[in-house]
Amino acid sequence: RRVAIFVSGGGSNMRALVDDMTGDHPARPCAVVSNKADAGGIKWAQDHGIATVVVDHRPYGEDRAAFEDALNAALVTHAPDIICLAGFMRKLTGGFTDHWAGRMINIHPSLLPKYRGLHTHARALEAGDTRHGCTVHEVTAELDDGPVLGQASLAVLPDDTADTLAARVLMLEHQLYPAVLRRFAADDRQRITLEG
Ligand code: GRF
Repeated sequence: RRVAIFVSGGGSNMRALVDDMTGDHPARPCAVVSNKADAGGIKWAQDHGIATVVVDHRPYGEDRAAFEDALNAALVTHAPDIICLAGFMRKLTGGFTDHWAGRMINIHPSLLPKYRGLHTHARALEAGDTRHGCTVHEVTAELDDGPVLGQASLAVLPDDTADTLAARVLMLEHQLYPAVLRRFAADDRQRITLEG
């Protein structure tokens, strides 16, 4: 199986996925894709001999479908079987999510269905949650929705800030996402639960 990883930022989840795709893993990275040429993940992929694709969303303005058509066109030569969103910060429309239905997964830093969207760590603290974590799910047209493939949780500490919590959840993400991709690439959708 060939995996395209979409990033907009530093790409630490992307690195965790790539590092795991060796040996008997059923998949290999075929491309790292970004809407930002200066995404840290793009530089790392280039340095590690992985093909990169940059499609800047800005020239397309509000025309999300045209941006997504450009993404799909750029993907053709890399022929991914699976797309992993890893901190890709553009909302995808139903046209794109339907095209990749059952073949595209995302990691989100909350215990879905809680806290879709941004600022998840601050929202968990605000709500006084005692546990928080991350979720890997199949991507559908609704933001941070779709069948859950895995969740990892940890205890919120009394002196946590949004930043300390985010840092610990990110470490959990690096365990959960590779574990889920390994199964997903082998067509195993049995849910994974991790506790940190
Ligand atoms: C992660 O917290 C991911 O869950 C969120 O964006 C962050 C990306 O971090 N959607 P990185 O680029 O993988 O380091």
